[in-house]
Amino acid sequence: MNILLLNGPNLNLLGTREPQKYGTTSLADVVAMCREEAQRHGATLADFQSNHEGAIVDRIHAARGEGVDWIVINPGAFTHTSVAIRDAFAGVAIPFIEVHISNVHAREAFRHHSYLSDIASGVMVGLGVAGYRLAVQAVASGMVSKPA
Ligand code: DQA
Repeated sequence: MNILLLNGPNLNLLGTREPQKYGTTSLADVVAMCREEAQRHGATLADFQSNHEGAIVDRIHAARGEGVDWIVINPGAFTHTSVAIRDAFAGVAIPFIEVHISNVHAREAFRHHSYLSDIASGVMVGLGVAGYRLAVQAVASGMVSKPA
């Protein structure tokens, strides 16, 4: 199984960015942790981070031709704004899990709405960076099956 881990804007700053909200683990460490989890279940994990909406759309499109089975994505602020990323997922029909490190529902009202959650297979919210690992475990182990 091939998993793609996507991270949106400002997540390159993970570890130093608002550590009281997002913790002190770097993105490189998150990627390593997810890759280890994928490999534990015999899956591979590619990763991509961008601060640019179009680059994320392009990466989702490319995933279709690469035989990516699942995408695990923290779309960052694009969660709350991006019809384009929603349409990209609908267009390629690759199932995905949405991850948020913080509990977006306990924060500002503008973070309560997601353009992705209703088309996601699952959503991990507020479990810190452990949410990434749990999402990878869920898909790599077959705990969550692909939508029919
Ligand atoms: C986030 C929550 C978003 O509201 C925010 O814009 C982020 C990170 C999270 O992981 O908690 O950049 O997706």
